[in-house]
Parts: sequence; C-alpha cells; structure tokens
Amino acid sequence: MLIHVNQEDRQFHLTNGQISYIFHVMKNGQLGHLYYGKALRNRDDFSHLQVYDVPTGATTHVYADDPAFGLETLRQEYPAYGNSDFREPAISVSKTTANHVPHFTYDSYQLLDGKPRLEGLPATYTEEQHEASTLQITLKDEFLQAELLLNYTIFRDKPAITRSASLKNLGTGELVIDRFMGASLDLPDKDFTMIHLAGTWSRERHVKERKLETGIQSIFSLRGVSSHHHNPFLALQRPEATEHTGEVYGFNFIYSSNFLMQIEVDHYDMARLTVGIHPFGFKWNLKPQASFQSPEVVMVYSDQGLNGMSQAFHTLYREHLIQGQWKKAVRPILINNWEATYFDFNEEKLVEIAKSASQLGIELLVLDDGWFGKRNDDTSSLGDWHVDLNKLPNGLESLAMKITETGMKFGLWFEPEMISPNSELFREHPDWAVGIPGQHYTLGRNQLVLDFSRPEIVDYLYEKMSAIIKQTNLAYIKWDMNRNITEAFSQKLAVHEQGEFFHRYILGVYALYDRLTSEFPNVLFESCAGGGGRFDPGMMYYAPQAWTSDDTDAIERLKIQYGTSFAYPVYSMGSHVSAVPNHQTLRTTPLQTRANTAYFGTFGYELDPVKLTEEERIEIKEQVAFYKQHRELIRDGHFYRLLSPFSKNETAWMVVSQDQSEALIGWYKVLATPNPKKQQTLRLSGITASNMYKVAGSERTYYGDELMNVGLPLPTEFNGVNGGSAERGGDFQSQVFYLQQIEG
Ligand code: DGJ
Repeated sequence: MLIHVNQEDRQFHLTNGQISYIFHVMKNGQLGHLYYGKALRNRDDFSHLQVYDVPTGATTHVYADDPAFGLETLRQEYPAYGNSDFREPAISVSKTTANHVPHFTYDSYQLLDGKPRLEGLPATYTEEQHEASTLQITLKDEFLQAELLLNYTIFRDKPAITRSASLKNLGTGELVIDRFMGASLDLPDKDFTMIHLAGTWSRERHVKERKLETGIQSIFSLRGVSSHHHNPFLALQRPEATEHTGEVYGFNFIYSSNFLMQIEVDHYDMARLTVGIHPFGFKWNLKPQASFQSPEVVMVYSDQGLNGMSQAFHTLYREHLIQGQWKKAVRPILINNWEATYFDFNEEKLVEIAKSASQLGIELLVLDDGWFGKRNDDTSSLGDWHVDLNKLPNGLESLAMKITETGMKFGLWFEPEMISPNSELFREHPDWAVGIPGQHYTLGRNQLVLDFSRPEIVDYLYEKMSAIIKQTNLAYIKWDMNRNITEAFSQKLAVHEQGEFFHRYILGVYALYDRLTSEFPNVLFESCAGGGGRFDPGMMYYAPQAWTSDDTDAIERLKIQYGTSFAYPVYSMGSHVSAVPNHQTLRTTPLQTRANTAYFGTFGYELDPVKLTEEERIEIKEQVAFYKQHRELIRDGHFYRLLSPFSKNETAWMVVSQDQSEALIGWYKVLATPNPKKQQTLRLSGITASNMYKVAGSERTYYGDELMNVGLPLPTEFNGVNGGSAERGGDFQSQVFYLQQIEG
C-alpha cells in the first residue's frame, strides 16, 4: 500500500518514494491540502505544513464561532465558494428549494489496491492490484443530503497521481450542479512559468509560455471537442528548470469535450489550479439517488525538467491508458489515399495504389473520405454509411478482398458523429441533428452534428459500423470529426436539462468507442478531428493513435510533434510522408526530411505511390525497412527533446531504449547558414555515460559521456567552397542517427 493514514489526526500521505501528496481534515471538517511534490519521509503528523492562525482584523473573514479560523488563506483539497474562501471553487451545487453554501465535511476513508475503472468514462487503469493504490475520501453535506467522493490513485513506480470526484444525491429532491471539477490544487506560491499547447487547424499544439501573475490565467474549450486551439494539458515549471533538470508539475485532463484548466493567483501569491468540465453552460440535474462522476485529472511531478514530466506521462499512458493488444503490438505502416486522390477515386485506382504500396513494404491501405452515399465533395452524404456503387460498383467487400490480395490490410475512414443536410439520413431523421428546430443554425464544413446524447442514435451508428467491419474484415478505422458543436441543444432534453447536453454527447461518443473496441479488439482505431482537434487522453483510451494534424509539411510538423510530445507518447502520433509541394504550405522539402520527421510517430504515407520516380521508390523502400527495424524502439523508448523549433533554426529529439543500449536521434535544420560553423555537434541525453556506442553507417565509436557532454559530431555542412566534401546542405536538411552500444 502506497498510502499512509494517521487515523487519529486524520492525515493522508500518498507516497511511492518518488512523490508525496499530503492532506488532512481541518478543524472545520473540510479537507486541507498540505503538500504535493518530491517525496518526503513519512511522519505521524504533517499538520505544521499549513499555518492556521488567522489574524483577525478588517482584511480577513473568520468563522463567527471560531475567530481563529477562516478559509481565505488556506490551502484546500476541494473548495467551495461562499464560506470565507473568495477564490473560484471546485464545486457549486444547490437544492432547488432552499439556500445553502456547500459545506462538505469529512466522513470516512477507504483504501483499495489497484484502481477502480470510472464507469462510462475513459481513465487510467491498472491490470494488477500492486501497480497502484487508491484512497477514497467520503465527505458529506447534511443540509444538501449529498455525498462527495474524492478519488486519489498513486502509481507504484511512476511520479503520477490521478484524481476525480463524484457526487451522490442521498435526498429526495433534485440537486443542481453548476460546477464540478475533477481536481483542485492549492500551491503555496506562484513562482512558476505556465506552459500550455495552443494553436488552430494545421498548426496544433504549439508551445506557449507565460509567467504566473496575480489574477486568473486559463486555457479552455467550449467547442464540444478538446480542440485544436487548446489542449487539455498544462505544466508549471520552476524558473530554474530546463528540459533536463529542475521541478515541473504536469496536468492533463482525460476528457474530449469542453474543459477548463485555470490558475488563480491570489493576493498572497498562492496559486489555485482547477481542472474540470468547463462550468460555462454546464448544469446537471442530479436526481435522488443518482451520482455524477467527474472525468479524471492526471498529475505528474518531475525533478528532471520537462523531459522528465513528459516521460512520466508517456510511460503512464503506454502502460495504464492505451488498452488491449495495442499496448504492445507494432502498428502497421499505412498509406492513406486522402492527399493522393481526395474524393476522386475508383476501385481500379485504389487497387493500383495498394499494389504499388505493397511492393514498397507498406502494410495497410486506408480508404479515406468519399466511399459512401454520393459523396464527391464535402457537401453531402455524411450519415449514409453504405458504399457508393457509382464509385465502387463491386462494393466494399470486393474492394477489401482485392486490397488484401495485394498483401495489404484494409482500413476505412468514418465520420460517425456527423450528418449532412444533403443526406438520406437527414431527410429521414431531421430531428437527429443537434440544434433548435426552426431557429438559426450554423454549418461547419457544410455539415451538422448528430445528437450523440441520444442512445438510439449511438445504437444506429453501432449497427452501421459493426456491419461494415464484419463485411470487410476491417483492420483499421480512422474516426474523424470535422466541425465543432454550435446551437448545442438536443431535441430530446427539456429546457432545464440542456446544460447536460455537451457531457451527454461525449458520453455517447465514448459509449460507441467502447462498444466497437470491445466487440472488435483487433481493429486499430486512429482518432482524428480535422487533424489534431481531439488529440487528448480521453480519445487515447480507445484509439491508441491519433492523426496529429492535417498539416503534413515536415517543417511544420517539427513544431506540432515537438509540442504534442509534452504530454503524449510519440507512438501515438500519426505522422505521414506526403508529396511536395506540400498541400498545406506549398513548401518543397527533401523526401529524406519528410521521412526523418515522420519516423518519430506511427509512420505512414499520404501520397500516390504510382506517381513516384524510380529513385523515390528505392528511397521509400529503404525508409519503410528502416522504420520496421526501429519501430519497437520508437514505441517503447524514452523520448527526449533536445533542441526546440520554437527557439532555434534547429530541432532535435531522440528516443533511447529502456536499457540504454540503443537510440535513434532526429536532427533537423530549417534554413541553411552561409559559411556555417566548422565543427557542429549535438549533445545527447539519456544514454549511459560509461557505455561505448557506435553510430550506424560510420566506424566511429564514442562513450556515452562524450556524446552527452561534448556531443555527437554532425556531418560536414556545405559552406560555399567545400562542394566536394560537404555531406549535407541546403534548406530543410535533416539527419537521423542510430546508435548502438558495442561494449559495456
Ligand atoms: C480531415 C482529416 O483530418 C483528413 O485527414 C481527411 O480525413 C479529411 N478530413 C477527409 O474529409
């Protein structure tokens, strides 16, 4: 058990030797936070870590029956507003018939080995009980007749804690929840830089930084998806911390819809972090005896800088979020026909692509958008999940067979959550679309959203999709979602229930994912939302990989993949080599650089192989073979960011095997430098100082300490006069190095 309980003083210390999380019951019966950070040795009493004496006077607010106590300056676990704490709370809940300030006081605790699953929601999990310990604290509000359960899980060998909350109505009348966060954390000071990932379509998850300041700083989504614009990730970095050293706290929300992550810095420079479902527009009617469960918040602590934080997320997600066979199985190298053909294809063309790709060693063909209904552009047919016999007269089954005969597996694109106004489905069920009948509505990419808060609609999609999976013996599904949700009303909810819509919608999406992945565990799912609009850990629970961005430009991808790696494992990032000039930027980059970027992800191609030259085919064959040789290392290794595209003309990163016997290094230079430095090196990380390593393709050997402190020499760069001997040059150049240990 990784949890110490001092029953007498009602104190709780979660620790695994790497981190400590400590709280206790305060004298008013609520929970007070004492510490979260690097592991502390256990002791009976930690209550001195919080000062309770409140000086009375004009500027403080104290309890009328205890002038030495007030919440205004206290660190708490799950605060409410209105009882002398003026900061934004974790919870706001009321009766419909009486006034009351929520006052949840400690009732009891329970210790569990392992970690219980969260019903209907994605969350981290354990397979063996020894992998984690869980503490559940029950608090009660007698007036509300409600029970609040706070869940804390600490993982045995990871600097990670997960938190969530659930509320049960024990009374006979309805309760209304206006705000119910997954976690709240009061930090003693504001001496941090806040790092988050922001962007938009085709430039997702760029790294943004700002120093914490007095007031509220937040990131959020109100789009019905986690969004291209803000990822549900946030880090707090101490000023002295770097990529490799120092203290960083990381937070990630396992949820794919409206979220809020905010930090409120108060007048004493204390910082309150709250993470949860965005309270704007949210209102949940909690019926008697019903419970509401919040999604889960993941908190990791690193004393090894940002890389340490990212590695903590990566290993946690690889082992305790991604499920089933996809934790370990290698993922197929795929070719997707989207950028090769867009909507303009037929069976012959697809089989031709499959044959040609199969000869290159590629393993799976994904037939993207346009195979169903009458969809020759993006103005129709979403919802009509039957094959377009004009394009594919022999049907999907025959196509799947022909693809399989080329030696390739077959995958299909779906956009299950959507409905085109011009579709058979809409003509039959106009009320299935999200919106308000007869009132203004908004289109996104010419389409409307299906009301996934309604179970009968989710059932309909399940029937349609499962029939096609069986019929085609499908190996892979790309699940797309190309617009955000507007006019967010369900025709099946009463007016006072519409605040439940967004959450009910995403529960419907999770339910469909859950049914399909349970029924078809061999199908590999790749999530997608117009590229990276839903790249979040909620999706990762069902779909072990996600299409990172619609932007396939290798140079843009440096920033996108670098940012994404802050929270998510490289082996979850769909990354493909595409044709040049690139379709999103019109940039022309070398084929080598396109592959060198895409290797650090789940690799694939997004081009027409039939149009390749013989030299390109030879090069691609080698790329495919190279990736096959190294994909286990990319899947299981520790990822280190070395040089940032956000601050430099060069980017570098590397993956090191867990036993540090091999490593793959990617180095990229955006623009050429005239008369560049003669001796260029790249300092590595994470390898063993005393190991001797050999660089593949050269006879040179180096000790690990040389590579980490002096650096790996980069090949000679073109400098205007060394044309004959230069090994690299020009814009958009890159190199991938493979290191292997040759002696201990
Ligand atoms: C958006 C996706 O991100 C693309 O890869 C492609 O699947 C299109 N949708 C198809 O409509």
